Amino acid sequence: MGPPGSQPGAPLSHRVDFLQLMINSQNSKDTEPYKGLSDLELVAQSIIFIFAGYDTTSSTLSFIIYTLATHPEVQKKLQQEIDAALPNKAPVTYDVLFEMEYLDMVVNETLRLYPVIERIVRVCKKDVEINGVFIPKGTVVAVPIYSLHQNPKYWPEPEKFSPERSL
Ligand code: HEM
Repeated sequence: MGPPGSQPGAPLSHRVDFLQLMINSQNSKDTEPYKGLSDLELVAQSIIFIFAGYDTTSSTLSFIIYTLATHPEVQKKLQQEIDAALPNKAPVTYDVLFEMEYLDMVVNETLRLYPVIERIVRVCKKDVEINGVFIPKGTVVAVPIYSLHQNPKYWPEPEKFSPERSL
């Protein structure tokens, strides 16, 4: 079986993956030459994808396995959704994945409890006042993802793993 979204046995050029999309941007007759990626840009993007995509994905998958192992009732419900969407062990496709609402809820709730990137930062581009707080131009502003995810004002019983909370 090929990667998700591909047909089994499909030629490599028909695969839907980042590398192929970047190569297509180089070869496409519909794209202005200056819009396609150079070889160097393509390699640079690939390295970013590996660094940005590897640990985030593997750690999140580990947390999902952990939450499913510690919440058997959620695991059962998710298994039922998967078995209904993919009868007789049918191959996974993007279309079927997008239909799985409970899977989405489980992933989102796991990312809320265990956000592998726990804060992001931005540099303030101009002097600004927000809710009475003056932020001078050049200030590095951090968005505390983990703390926000644990705030009972937004998430009642924040320590509880409950995929249903998004309903
Ligand atoms: C569970 C998996 C992932 C999580 C939790 C995650 C989280 C994040 C977050 C929070 C940011 C925003 C950083 C910011 O704006 O300061 C970000 C940006 C980014 N991520 Fe991920 N990521 C995940 C998977 C991936 C994968 C698989 C790739 C690539 C294959 C990737 C590539 C990137 C790139 C290129 C950016 C920068 C985007 C931009 O600023 O234009 N990430 N990610």
